[in-house]
Amino acid sequence: MLSGRCQEEFTHPVDKDLIEIQASSGDWCGFLDMEDGHRKVQKKPVRVIAAVCKERGIGKNGTLPWNLPSEFQYFLRSVTQVSKPGKFNMLVWGKLCWFSNPQTMFPMANVLNAVLSETLATVPDYAHFLCQDLKSAVLMAAQYPLADLIETIWVVGGTRVYKDALDHPWCDLVFLTDIMAEFECDVFFPEMDPQVFKKQERFAGVPSGIHEENGIKYQFQVFKRNDAHRRNEENVLNDN
Ligand SMILES: NC(=O)c1ccc[n+]([C@@H]2O[C@H](COP(=O)([O-])OP(=O)(O)OC[C@H]3O[C@@H](n4cnc5c(N)ncnc54)[C@H](OP(=O)(O)O)[C@@H]3O)[C@@H](O)[C@H]2O)c1
Repeated sequence: MLSGRCQEEFTHPVDKDLIEIQASSGDWCGFLDMEDGHRKVQKKPVRVIAAVCKERGIGKNGTLPWNLPSEFQYFLRSVTQVSKPGKFNMLVWGKLCWFSNPQTMFPMANVLNAVLSETLATVPDYAHFLCQDLKSAVLMAAQYPLADLIETIWVVGGTRVYKDALDHPWCDLVFLTDIMAEFECDVFFPEMDPQVFKKQERFAGVPSGIHEENGIKYQFQVFKRNDAHRRNEENVLNDN
């Protein structure tokens, strides 16, 4: 059994009750809009977003090694974009990543925040959910009462949750900003299989070309999961 469990502190009028989701590994195999026991599961896109410098570095001493305000605005625009008012995206944060942000950053428009931790006992301030792992956060977003509210699940780091997201069969796109410079880092983006994630030449809504800020060059990149690979993964999941 998967020990997935989420604790909610979300006071949206749709459902004020605390919900707890216990997911079994069997649930995991039947994720495609199927009845999951008594809970209908709506597949949601899981997307990864990160800024990565040379040698795949993403962080140092619990913070970002660079100061790129326009790149950060791109991050905010991406994760807060929804198709219509009343819809939300769910952001999934590792615990350190969550606490490294200034509280002034919250609340974020159109966003529900899920923090991952196996040791925290209560939902952190300004977050909406505390989950023990990515799978249970995704499952929570894909089920009543959140499924009709949430459009996209954005995984915003750090390393372990990025890795879990890349391995997740619903992860279709990876938004990586290529920071074209070297920074000393102590946290790194996981290896991405080039057979699975293919770099796109262009992607709607993503500025192309090389940008420069504070003397640092960077470019926005999007990697798309290879569909053939995804079909194979889903077949494996469904066969089990
Ligand atoms: N460049 C970028 O785009 C970017 C993006 C994000 C973060 N960062 C940087 O990365 C650093 C923080 O990342 P980090 O990797 O050190 O820490 P992190 O992932 O934010 O936090 C690690 C903790 O979060 C919990 N956790 C993380 N992943 C989990 C998972 N999949 N399942 C369950 N629990 C999970 C665990 O908490 P418990 O021990 O309580 O179980 C773990 O000890 C900072 O320097 C930040 O600035 C950079």
